Order: sequence, then C-alpha cells, then structure tokens
Amino acid sequence: GATKVPMSLLEPNAYINYQRIEDNLAVVRDRLKRPLTLSEKIVYGHLDDPHGQDIERGTSYLKLRPDRVACQDATAQMAIMQFMSAGMDTAAVPTTVHCDHLIEAQVGGVKDLARAISINKEVYDFLATATAKYGLGFWKPGSGIIHQIILENYAFPGGLMIGTDSHTPNAGGLGMVACGVGGADAVDVMAGIPWELKCPKVIGVNLTGKIGGWTTPKDVILKVAGILTVKGGTGAIVEYTGPGVESLSCTGMATICNMGAEIGATTSLFPSTTHNLKADEGAEYDQRIEINLSELEPHINGPFTPDLATPISKFKDAVVKNGWPAELKVGLIGSCTNSSYEDMSRAASIAREGASHGLQTKAKFTVTPGSEQVRATIERDGQIAAFEDVGGVILANACGPCIGQWDRKDVKKGEPNSIVTSYNRNFTGRNDANPATHAFVASPTLSLLSRSLATSDTFQPPPADRVSVQVAVDPKSERLQLLTPFKPWDGKTPTDLPILIKVKGKCTTDHISAGGPWLKYRGHLENISQNCLIGAINAENDEANKVKNQVTGEYGGVPQTAAYYRDHGIKWVVIGDSNYGEGSSREHAALEPRFLGGLAIITRPRGLRQDPPSDKVDILGLESFAPGKNLTLVVKHQDGSKEEFPLAHSFNEGQIEWFKAGSALNLMAAKAKG
Ligand code: F3S
Repeated sequence: GATKVPMSLLEPNAYINYQRIEDNLAVVRDRLKRPLTLSEKIVYGHLDDPHGQDIERGTSYLKLRPDRVACQDATAQMAIMQFMSAGMDTAAVPTTVHCDHLIEAQVGGVKDLARAISINKEVYDFLATATAKYGLGFWKPGSGIIHQIILENYAFPGGLMIGTDSHTPNAGGLGMVACGVGGADAVDVMAGIPWELKCPKVIGVNLTGKIGGWTTPKDVILKVAGILTVKGGTGAIVEYTGPGVESLSCTGMATICNMGAEIGATTSLFPSTTHNLKADEGAEYDQRIEINLSELEPHINGPFTPDLATPISKFKDAVVKNGWPAELKVGLIGSCTNSSYEDMSRAASIAREGASHGLQTKAKFTVTPGSEQVRATIERDGQIAAFEDVGGVILANACGPCIGQWDRKDVKKGEPNSIVTSYNRNFTGRNDANPATHAFVASPTLSLLSRSLATSDTFQPPPADRVSVQVAVDPKSERLQLLTPFKPWDGKTPTDLPILIKVKGKCTTDHISAGGPWLKYRGHLENISQNCLIGAINAENDEANKVKNQVTGEYGGVPQTAAYYRDHGIKWVVIGDSNYGEGSSREHAALEPRFLGGLAIITRPRGLRQDPPSDKVDILGLESFAPGKNLTLVVKHQDGSKEEFPLAHSFNEGQIEWFKAGSALNLMAAKAKG
C-alpha cells in the first residue's frame, strides 16, 4: 500500500495526493501519445477531468484542482469576505494567510512591527478570527514573507498551488507549480470550484556548466530576463533543465523562479531529482534557451525595468553612457526573492571582510529577512551582528521597501539617486514612491559590495473548536465590511438601461479601481467603491469622474451617479474600448461596478454613434443565454431611432449558471445548504 505523506508538518491531517497525479497522467499520456515536459506532468496531473479536457498548449482552457491556496494580508481581506458568503464551514483545500504586506519600514524591525500591529489591528484581528473560524492557517505579522514561509513549510515537489501574489512562483524552487492569481481565483478554489488556466506553453531553459565565483542564482534570472524581456514569458511556464541544475541550491532555484514573474511567466519550475520529477526524454518546448553557468557573469539589471540586463564588466561604462547617478545611496538586501541563509551568509562574509579592515558601508544598508526562521537563525549564527557591525539596519520580516512600504528620509522626492536591491521589481517608484530613484536589481552579494528558532509562536493553526469562534468585524469599521450576496438574475430582459459612462481611451484596472490611498479600504466594498471608474475619461466631455445622471439631468461623480441608479432600482451599463480592464489584477475592479448596480460592461461596440450619453440600451437574448451564442444590444437614441449590435461573450455553461445565481459563490452557498 502507498504510504501517506502529510502535506506539511503543520497540517498532519492533509496528505499529498501523488496517486491522483499518476492516475491523471496515465489517462493524459494515453490520449496525447507524446513525451511530456515536467510542467505538463504536474499541470495535467491536476486536471479536474483528464478524460474530457481539451489539451492544447497556448489555446485551451484547463480546469484544474490545486493542492493549496496562499493569500497575503492585503488581498486576503476581500477574498475571505467573499469566501464567507459561500456559506461553507471549511475551505475546500488547505489555505494559509500571511501578514507581510501591511508593515512599513521606518526605523527598524522591532519598532516598525509594533507600529504596524497597532495601525492594522482591526485587519489582523479579522484575519486571525476568520482563519480560525474557517480552518485556515494564519501567519501573524512578524512571521515573515509569504513566499519564504511557503518554501519553508508548505511547498512540495509535484504540487500545484495558487497564491494571491505575483511572486508565488517562488515555490518552483522545490518543484511545485505555483502561480500568482487574483483574489477571485483564490476564492473559487477555496470554495471547491475548479481553477481555470489557459494551457501554458513551455519555455525550456537548459543550464550547463557549474555556478561559481561571484556569480549567484540571481544572475541566472537577471540574464534570462534580459533575453526574454518583461513580456517574453507571457502564457508560458519557464522550465529549467540540464546538468547545471545540480550546482544550484533549493533557495537559489526559488530566487530564480520568484523573479520569473518579472518576465510575465505563468510560473517557473525546477526538476526535483530526488523525486524523479523531470521532463520525459524528447519532450518538446515552445522555445529553448541555453545558458552555460560556468561562463555566466554577475549582472545588474535596471534602472526602471527588470529586463535591462548589464553584465558587471560593462556596468561602469553603462553608468557613464546613460548618465545614471553614480553615487549609490542605499543597498537593500533580503525580501522574498533573496533572503535565504545562503544569501545572508555570503553577504555577511563580505561585511566581516570589510569590518576586519576597519570599514563601514558608505551607503545606507538595510536587511529584510524573509522569515522569522531566517532572522532567528542568522541572529544565532552571527550574520546579523556582522551586518550591524558595518552599519546595517535590520528591518521587519516583511515586504517593507519592496512594496513601497518605506518611509525614506535620506533623499527628497524628485531628487535623482541610485539604489541597488536584491528584490525583484524595480519599476518607477516601486520602492520609495520617488520617480527619480534609479533602482537596480542584483544579488545580495553584489548589493552589499556596494536565540533558539522560536518560530512557532508566529503561526496560528486553526483551533479544534471553530464553531464558537466569532469573526471580528466591527460594523462601524471603515476598513472592513461583511459582504451581502449579490442578487440573482430576475429572469427579465433588461430594457432601457442608462449608460453610466462611455469611456474614452485607456481604461485599465487602475482607472476602474485606483490604488494608493484607496488600498486601505480593500476589505470594505462600499468604501472602496467610492473610487469606481473615477479615473476613466468620459467621452462626452473629456473629463474624469463627471457624468450626467440620466434621471435628474445633473452632472456628478461616477460612483455617486451609479449609486443613485442602484438605489432607484435602475440597472446600468458601461461602454468601454477594447482594452477595458487590462493592467494588474485587481478583483475590486470587477466587484465595484457590480456592487453599484451595473449589469454589463460592453466593450468595442463598433459603429456605435458618437452621441450616446442619453441613449438607453436593451440586452436581448438572456433567456436563451448559451456558450458561443451572441446576445443582442439594442441602442435606443433620443430621437426614437434604434440600432442593433451583436454582443459576443465568453461565458461557458458553468459561468452562465453563476450569472443566473448572481455569483459562483451564491451557487456554492445554495449547494452547501443542500
Ligand atoms: Fe513582498 Fe516584495 Fe516579495 S512585496 S511578496 S517582498 S516581491
């Protein structure tokens, strides 16, 4: 009989289901009759329906059953609010929540953490009680950064995980297919709904030679980013192969996979030789890249984009030629990308070497440990002392400056300056909100040239008695609000709907749901909806956030006008251009129009006349709503004339059921009740 392997030491009752992978693969192999890449083995091994699923790389949509879900604290708020409305008492798969994104770096780890705990108390209390109630693992503020904790406790070779953060692929260092998703996908999987993923292409990166000298695993991904650029991995899994893999540590491979997010890859993946998890002989890749590790130089990428790769031997000339600020102001090491024991030890050895010659670092220097486990270990083993001896500041075990949570005081906003980090992202303003900061990305080794392990107290397992747990949400809270389920479709043909706004030009998720100060309302749908479409330009008057209320005739803000319609029982539509909703994943951009009573977002209705603000629309065909069958848009002009347009949609059978029920979660709630 097969031995049962627990998925994690912290979850003794959840087991890894390798048998399902084997069974699924037997079916898929029989159908495809070709050698498979490792990515395909793991992905197809998690198919919901291996017999019936269409499988064509780059084309078909796969329905998958992930093994786990991980959420960081910023995205978890709305995800858990939504999950609660599905009426289930436990998440369908093991799930963890990690408090790492809400901690701002100001003076140093201990004080910064204490301040964050007081500022975010209601959010942390909500997450702590909701995770306890619904059987999720909770990692308290101070425990560390989500991806490092996953690598330490939950990642396993051959697994499939989704996480509500773009650097979830970090777990690929342990042979797990781990993908960053939006909160809505996490909610689906927690509620037992299969996860949809466009069948990924596979890019093979063959590593030969041996890593050594000043070159680190980080330099592999800095090089790959230079080759593939920020878009080159889109829709693909980057799969590493070849004898060079043997010379890389697990955490080094995690660094490479983590930063694969910067080239837009679905995820990145390393083979696991101990588990015989590797590609079949003769497996075909959509693209191949060769890197000889023995010849690979250390790289510095940036500024302003992670794919501008410069080998160290050419860096000096590049600084001069491009006029980059030559003085380095701050070096920042650590983060989820590069804070392993190996990284810290290498950097500490340089610090000790410097100190032995009486040197201090000239630039400021911060260290962000990836987890409490890393921090406690490097405290025990002296690396922290080595950093502090040369002037290093140890920040909290959290995202901090990596996500702009950095209260930087050493330069003024707008002052050109250079920093070098061992993080992964360096887009304008990412670290310190200063658009003039030139951020370069390099290994921690290069960035620097320039007690007992009491970690368990930062983890809260679900309690045995979950029934008596009360989820903490203050009805007067400005940051958190329980969700009321959306109403089901009333079965009627929608007629005479006003157009809330006809959007001109770009309308990204940032135009639909702005970030910045609004982010503190992420757990409060009503409050955050006050930013709904306020960045979109009204085609009628070329102004943002000024639309005509078709009932009162008065001009007002977009969210206010939408709420007026909703409160008067009037559904509405938005007319957008082809790029409506592109940009970074933000489920609030979908939730807010719905919350404010919107029925449809109609994009690119070619030929629609230029004078539609006062037009009304009907949407015909919902009573026979079916996959692949167009609906019809009837536009009724004020002069009494009408125009008709076909409306394409991409709803499948299941999604049409969700539409009718009001949402996927309503359907799950109905099923949960029986
Ligand atoms: Fe956090 Fe930066 Fe990683 S924001 S999760 S440390 S990429």
